[in-house]
Amino acid sequence: MRDKIASLVREYFRTQVHSVPEPREGYLPVAGKVIDEEDLAMLVDSCLDMHFTSGRFAHQFEKDFYRCSDVRFCCLVNSGSSANLVALSSLSSPILRERRITPGDEIITVGAGFPTTVNPIIQNQWVPVFIDVKLGTYQADCSLLDEALSNRTKAVIFAHTLGNTFDLKKTKHFCERHNLWLIEDCCDSLGAEYQGQKVGTFGDIATVSFYPAHQITMGEGGAVLTKSARLKRIIESFRDWGRDCWCEPGKDNTCGKRFEWDLGDMPKGYDHKYIYSHVGYNLKLTDMQAALGLSQLNKLETFVKKRRYNFNLLNSHLRGLEEFIVLPEETPLAKASWFGFPITLKMPISGKRTQLVRFLEENGIGTRNIFAGNLTRQPAYRDVKFRVIGCLTNCDRVMVDSFWVGVYPGLEDRHIQYISEKIYEGVELAKTSE
Ligand SMILES: Cc1ncc(COP(=O)(O)O)c(C=O)c1O
Repeated sequence: MRDKIASLVREYFRTQVHSVPEPREGYLPVAGKVIDEEDLAMLVDSCLDMHFTSGRFAHQFEKDFYRCSDVRFCCLVNSGSSANLVALSSLSSPILRERRITPGDEIITVGAGFPTTVNPIIQNQWVPVFIDVKLGTYQADCSLLDEALSNRTKAVIFAHTLGNTFDLKKTKHFCERHNLWLIEDCCDSLGAEYQGQKVGTFGDIATVSFYPAHQITMGEGGAVLTKSARLKRIIESFRDWGRDCWCEPGKDNTCGKRFEWDLGDMPKGYDHKYIYSHVGYNLKLTDMQAALGLSQLNKLETFVKKRRYNFNLLNSHLRGLEEFIVLPEETPLAKASWFGFPITLKMPISGKRTQLVRFLEENGIGTRNIFAGNLTRQPAYRDVKFRVIGCLTNCDRVMVDSFWVGVYPGLEDRHIQYISEKIYEGVELAKTSE
């Protein structure tokens, strides 16, 4: 029956229209899932197990992901934001003794980024220390790292924004010199490399998102990666209610001494399944999400190549506008896995972003801001304690003059050509308007 269902599902998929609309005939989103009949068949197959919670597909994904990430341990969670929450919270564990991060400690990050890279710092009662970004690469300005350091600094978390990479050489060296944790937020950048090495393998912990806009999708989903067996235990504990026990859901007594533990103030022999060593969460994902991810994994390399191809094509089309826009720059030594194509307006069209993106949107071209712009200006952070190094001048510039358009694998040459033509037209209009 499963085979019959799978073949019907494939047939069903083929009857649906999945292609991106032709230029001028519909809206070209900045990003979107690219799925095929195998993906749908795998998703339905996982439902037929009727297991629903994390199970065999999740295990398989955690094992197979090594091939794409080069990181030994992969702990699946239900989003990239959850991955950041688990990754950072794990560093508060008493198991880490003197390296544990405690309330009031400082974490260095950038002012222009995605909010949930920073939010777990605040949620753990730590203090974010914001440094500026560089225009063009949109990555941390690492020349500010020394100035950002204090005797409370415990970690650095940077995202490889928009699929480009931050300066891993300088950042890693800084962290090693000062005995700091390094967390790589790879939510935008799965498949990117630096000096031929995959992102996510440089820091102590890395995070990934499988939201449909990203390189591969599970619908919603994420992962926390680490090379350390000790951190893996802590990460799983925070993900799974804070429990001390490491049995899989539905399994008992993996440790072989379920009723023999003697821990602190706990009654001797208290069931290990209900002993909590951390103030944790439940951020696990379902097996259906993992099944979709497992099928998508096979396509990661192709997707990343297509993103790079589309990026380079658009970049070559837009060279003629360099007088008016800052074109994106790949970080030296990096091979980006482009999430989008960022653009910053220069004089004389600086300040006319709304006009330009409105024109593009009216012509069926999706656009996005570079996330929150300068986070310190967002209402959510008004009453939050943070430190700022310098003036965040470029974060402010990003907030008013930057946006990005799509390069995702659903787009073909003719879409890229159209996007480029409309950007030329939009810039021309902006030049002549008041
Ligand atoms: C850099 C970065 N970190 C974290 C996230 C959060 O991922 P998710 O949407 O899966 O929660 C995103 C989302 O796009 C992101 O761009």
